[in-house]
Amino acid sequence: MEVKIIQASETFPVRIEVLRKGIPLPYEFPGDFDENTTHFGLFISDKLVSVATVLVSSHAYFEGHQFQLRGMATLSKYQGKGIGSVLLKHIIEFVKTNKAEVLWFNARIKALRFYQKLGFEIIGPEFDILHVGGHYVMYKKF
Ligand SMILES: CC(C)(COP(=O)(O)OP(=O)(O)OC[C@H]1O[C@@H](n2cnc3c(N)ncnc32)[C@H](O)[C@@H]1OP(=O)(O)O)[C@@H](O)C(=O)NCCC(=O)NCCS
Repeated sequence: MEVKIIQASETFPVRIEVLRKGIPLPYEFPGDFDENTTHFGLFISDKLVSVATVLVSSHAYFEGHQFQLRGMATLSKYQGKGIGSVLLKHIIEFVKTNKAEVLWFNARIKALRFYQKLGFEIIGPEFDILHVGGHYVMYKKF
């Protein structure tokens, strides 16, 4: 198992498969190609099985230097095996090294437990993202 920095385009097939099935929203995110954006991939025997993206982006809930997590996805066959946790722990270390004061994101309700187990907390009310459903803002402060 190895976590590497990857290109935006490498995340797209995994995003499409895991996050955009039956969901008519773009798989490319604003900021994907910004120089401050970093894409991570977890590989098992050279197969990319989990991806996530970190952008420098601020939310009105927070102050200070903030990063946003987007596009966290593990291929369905590989879910529930601890892979997403390994990738997200790596990303937490990355943002800490880059002087983050907050890491935040919009979490799908189905994934709340995954993030809570890694110490992220909910802030604010539930809100809806069209075609995807209920979300909460989650965050961790450093
Ligand atoms: C959420 C997700 C990224 C987690 O990645 P993963 O590789 O499955 O993560 P882990 O195996 O480290 O999971 C740890 C915890 O997440 C939860 N979890 C795992 N698979 C899950 C799934 N398919 N759906 C919901 N929660 C799940 C469980 O609480 C699990 O804890 P457990 O080990 O006690 O069962 C992955 O399940 C996924 O891609 N889901 C679909 C897309 C999605 O919802 N992405 C998040 C958008 S905000």
